[in-house]
Amino acid sequence: MDYQNLANTYETPLYIYDFNDIKSRYLELKNSFSARKSLICYAVKANSNLSLLKFLANLGCGFDCVSFNEVKKALLAGAKNYNIILSGVGKRDDEIEEAIKSNILMINVESKAELLQIEKISQNLNNKTRISIRVNPNIDPKTHPYISTGLKENKFGVSIELAKWMYLYAKKSDFLDPVGIHFHIGSQLLDEQPIIEASKIIADLMKSLKALDIDIKFFDVGGGIGVDYEDEKTINLYNYTQGILSSLNGQDVTIVCEPGRFLVAKSGKLLTKVLYEKENLGKRFVIVDAAMSELLRPSLYQAFHNIKALKPYENLSKCDVVGPICESGDFLGKDINLPNLNSGDLLLIEDSGAYGFSMASNYNSRLKPAAICVLDDKIQLICKKESFEDLIKNEVEFLGNFDEKH
Ligand code: LLP
Repeated sequence: MDYQNLANTYETPLYIYDFNDIKSRYLELKNSFSARKSLICYAVKANSNLSLLKFLANLGCGFDCVSFNEVKKALLAGAKNYNIILSGVGKRDDEIEEAIKSNILMINVESKAELLQIEKISQNLNNKTRISIRVNPNIDPKTHPYISTGLKENKFGVSIELAKWMYLYAKKSDFLDPVGIHFHIGSQLLDEQPIIEASKIIADLMKSLKALDIDIKFFDVGGGIGVDYEDEKTINLYNYTQGILSSLNGQDVTIVCEPGRFLVAKSGKLLTKVLYEKENLGKRFVIVDAAMSELLRPSLYQAFHNIKALKPYENLSKCDVVGPICESGDFLGKDINLPNLNSGDLLLIEDSGAYGFSMASNYNSRLKPAAICVLDDKIQLICKKESFEDLIKNEVEFLGNFDEKH
């Protein structure tokens, strides 16, 4: 790939996604569940680019959304309403109402208060709403504490006891239809065992619900399948799917899986240009034109992303690759071996397809970069670089005379 040409055409920083890679990962995961009915619902939060959603929708992929705007993006991208789930610990009334009107597959419920609210809104709309309850199995997923979600100290889901009560309540309600059960214990999981363990706990709960005449049709195992950012050993897909299937012990359900990172992280690269090199008391810094505003993961979780120079690896020395933002925490890599670099040299920050663009911000009034996709050696622009006009378009001129009513 001619990265220099891409930098000249689209400017840097630039997100580059390999759609062939996304397709093969989708098919790999889908096929690993082939022994059962399954629905892969891509977690839109990982990267909500419309072209990427359209590409996945064309493959038959469903979508796990955490706001109604994500549902709208999925629908706009051509997703079928019956392949969309709405999750999230704090949905607003208008989001619940719109989700019901859109007749999506189900709403994942995260608390008793939310269950009652969904019932009330469904009653107003005279609708029997399909729901799933997110159960917190209290399992340690062994991942970064910020992305761990299945322990009792996390804000997500409800306890098994409360879930039972909620299912019984929903079953009796004329406006709720409990069709699913859901858990998600964390993200960037490198070991399948905690998911399989959680799966057994939730499958047991499902069995006890069956005895109460509550027939669950969708067994949603959440997302969380990790990727090798640093050559680490990751989840073995065969063991993962076999473990989930065997936990079900013959119970006949459609397995729903909500991968975000697994489908898109490795497909993405962030192309950036060196602005300067500098040394502070013997410490080498490479200052680039990408920053925490385009890839927050290193700053937020001390996450590792491989950084590759696009020039011969000679005269290597360790350096921190940092962005121009006025925060000491604005770094993309620490203690990385890189050759001597000059202004204008290009670097690739790898594995940035997930939680890069979707967590990007305008901090320091920076403009969000363009994105392109590569499919069968063809390149297409899938997101324009923001303009200064985009940056200020919602801001209203200060007139100096205040409205007295407020
Ligand atoms: N389902 C639920 C209910 C989730 O909360 C998440 C992610 C997923 C699916 C998708 O998880 P994945 O397959 O991508 O691991 N910003 C963090 C990750 C936060 C994940 C939040 N929930 C990061 O950059 O590592």
